[in-house]
Amino acid sequence: MQATKPSETKVVLTGIKPTNHPHIGNYIGAIRPGIELVSQAEHSLLFIADYHALTTVQDPKELREYTLSVAATWIACGLDPERTVIYRQSDVPEIFELAWILSCVTPKGLLNRSHAYKAKVQENQTAEKEDLDFGISMGLFSYPVLMAADILLFNTDIVPVGEDQVQHVEVARDIAQKFNRVFGDVLKLPNHFLKAESVVPGLDGRKMSKSYGNHIPLFLESKKMRKMIMKIITDSTPPEAPKEPKGSVLYTLYKEFSSINQANELANLYREGVGWGEVKQMLFERIEEYFKGPALTYNDLISHPEKIDAILKDGGMRARDLAEPTMKKVRAAVRG
Ligand code: TRP
Repeated sequence: MQATKPSETKVVLTGIKPTNHPHIGNYIGAIRPGIELVSQAEHSLLFIADYHALTTVQDPKELREYTLSVAATWIACGLDPERTVIYRQSDVPEIFELAWILSCVTPKGLLNRSHAYKAKVQENQTAEKEDLDFGISMGLFSYPVLMAADILLFNTDIVPVGEDQVQHVEVARDIAQKFNRVFGDVLKLPNHFLKAESVVPGLDGRKMSKSYGNHIPLFLESKKMRKMIMKIITDSTPPEAPKEPKGSVLYTLYKEFSSINQANELANLYREGVGWGEVKQMLFERIEEYFKGPALTYNDLISHPEKIDAILKDGGMRARDLAEPTMKKVRAAVRG
């Protein structure tokens, strides 16, 4: 399977699992490039994979909170709901109908080889559990089938993904081929587009991730954001000593939110010698400035969840309309 550029294709589809409040690492790594990709596409769909998140998020309040937060963040950061169909997975029942049909042509062995499932089995092996399927739900096991349904229902050409999701798109392709062999040529085979992954450092210099607790949330209130930036770990080089910008967490983050000139100015300050406190203040101001507009939109949406619900509901209806022709063909092919 070769990667194709989204701009050369028709339907680009992206799914996001609502398992946390998006942070700055998500913004740089997924949201900003994702918005660019979908805005270049002729047709684009972006959905909140809330039922996928059920494998781990089983508190309804939390699920709703993350769903709203993810949707509001993407819209606040520039996703245009007129151009891109944005919807909740659970608002499109056809996805789950298709998932069942697909599961009936999916060899179980294909799922046994899925990375996520294998990693869980491995964990149990390491913990010397007698039952190697300990703690593994059917949802986790059949996750790739649901993901195949997400993708195939919309005649998707391209799925932009990070490295960890490539296998899932390949599985979707395998399942589509299997379906077409059994029931006739109905489903379009998708391709993945591998996004360049930039590793964003967190407060402690490791990859920014909620699971490390080193993440900087987006849209923090000003005082809290400043406090957070001040927490970024630096070394004990004295202020006047020349410093190397490359590899510095502060510089790496600053660069993401500034023009080439601004980044060069900071690099020069490093080489002349500058105190970490001063650099942190600069980074804080840069981030405040960069997210000023998006923060207004985000806060407005989050304090009026009915606005987000309305956008998602409208997107859900559009998604169902788009899904109907494929679903009709699938039903006809299967039921005779
Ligand atoms: N599995 C993806 C993740 O964990 C989320 C997802 C669900 C998805 N369905 C999708 C991504 C369909 C792309 C296409 O990040």
